[in-house]
Amino acid sequence: MSVTNFPGGAGSSDSGVSLQKVTMPALAEMKRQGKPICALTAYDYSSARIADEAGVDLILVGDSLAMVVLGHENTMAVTVDEMLHHTRAVSRAVRRGLLVADMPFGSYHGTVGEGVANAIRFIKEAGAEAVKIEGARIELMRALTEAEIPVVGHLGLTPQSIHRMGGYRVQARTADAVLSLRADAHALAEAGAGLLVLEGVPREVAAAITADLPIPTIGIGAGPDCDGQILVFHDLVGLTFAPSAKFVRRYADAGALIRTAIEGYRKDVQQRAFPSDEESYHLPEAVRRVLDATEKTGTLRKV
Ligand code: KIV
Repeated sequence: MSVTNFPGGAGSSDSGVSLQKVTMPALAEMKRQGKPICALTAYDYSSARIADEAGVDLILVGDSLAMVVLGHENTMAVTVDEMLHHTRAVSRAVRRGLLVADMPFGSYHGTVGEGVANAIRFIKEAGAEAVKIEGARIELMRALTEAEIPVVGHLGLTPQSIHRMGGYRVQARTADAVLSLRADAHALAEAGAGLLVLEGVPREVAAAITADLPIPTIGIGAGPDCDGQILVFHDLVGLTFAPSAKFVRRYADAGALIRTAIEGYRKDVQQRAFPSDEESYHLPEAVRRVLDATEKTGTLRKV
């Protein structure tokens, strides 16, 4: 299917994906029914359109875009305006999945009021249906919930805390840390979180939290027992330039595919093999005849 034409009507897509809109309550129902939730990041119109049409339930405009799209070393530098820009592009593409925007570092680390005001921008100005915040920010979670903003919590390896954590390290590896993570997960759920991302934690810890938390957990580097899984789009399709983390499964090598395509294009241009005559526009026959006659006589006359 082309990425520039939306299919009409409801029902199911060509690949059998239900076109029913996914909402936060629908994801809670999936947990109750034991149906795994499939989540993926997307940062622009075409990737979001493909992910949505492929049946991804939750599309996150992750602040990982700082690295995979903008080329930063980590996620710290991306701004609210940059995240809004990408969220708008994604929201133009997504019809079915729940659209979640990641709140970037600094946009909710001051007062609760600032956090709520920034979250409202993602909903009002960019079309997000929920926001994601990292850490056990219970007061902010409660305030966002009171402001009618669905929120995804994010615990474990929270990339906005790398300077405090001393790098990308698996979290919750001691008994104290496990107990504290479980307490934070429950506190976030009680404060109104609709979902909880668990990143970079031992499988056993994620399984235990998933088993007794009332809201769905979405794992990344947290083993197979979470209620759902999320991957970064560029990791999944092989568009990254550094070795992948252990938990990444690469389903395609789009980097190699795109490189080969571009090299083919370059060679064709250098050998004047592109564009061909068939790929060119032509003058109408009548106009050609006028111009031919003009060239012969040196004057412009009508035929
Ligand atoms: O920014 C991001 O991509 C994320 C997911 C990996 C959970 O936070």
